[in-house]
Amino acid sequence: MSAIDLKAHIRSIKDFPKPGIMFRDITPLLAAPAAFRESIRLLADRYRDAGVTAVAAAEARGFIFAAPLAIELDAAFIPVRKPGKLPFDRRAFQYDLEYGSDSLEMHVDAVKTGDRVLLVDDLLATGGTMQACAKLAELAGAHVVGCAFIVELTFLPGRKKLEGYDVFSLMQYH
Ligand code: PRP
Ligand code: ADE
Repeated sequence: MSAIDLKAHIRSIKDFPKPGIMFRDITPLLAAPAAFRESIRLLADRYRDAGVTAVAAAEARGFIFAAPLAIELDAAFIPVRKPGKLPFDRRAFQYDLEYGSDSLEMHVDAVKTGDRVLLVDDLLATGGTMQACAKLAELAGAHVVGCAFIVELTFLPGRKKLEGYDVFSLMQYH
């Protein structure tokens, strides 16, 4: 339960980045320390006893929530990055977009067998980004504890794509 109305801190912008998209902008929440802190507290409380050893997230918006959450859970923070950004040996996972494909990368030594990884992102839409993060963690031998989001767009098939994982979001848009 939250004493703060987190949804009141999300700004909706019509037709961004293209016509027909209602963009859910998290920047007002980030600019309100009490709301930002509360979003991290709610996630930390949910996973505090889950034995999380690492919190992984895709750039850029996922990092914003995953890093403070990792500190709060006394776990490693694992950056999942777009191609060509990570300097050490890395593993890539390619995933489909509406048109074309994209790829995300994780360092090969970022997580290992026995790690319990919590995956975090600001928003769940089609689920492609989160699925790629999950596959990268699993290819390294880790167990995915859950997939946590600030915002979930329930009219898109993200949750379906993540079937088999524990999916949790702080707020939903239907
Ligand atoms: C956005 C958002 C999620 C992803 C959700 O990131 O932050 O990571 O899209 O969409 P999906 O569920 O369909 O994969 P974006 O790729 O726009 O990058 P950014 O974080 O750098 O803005
Ligand atoms: N990423 C994918 N869809 C989005 C949306 N509607 N608002 C904000 N970020 C998004």
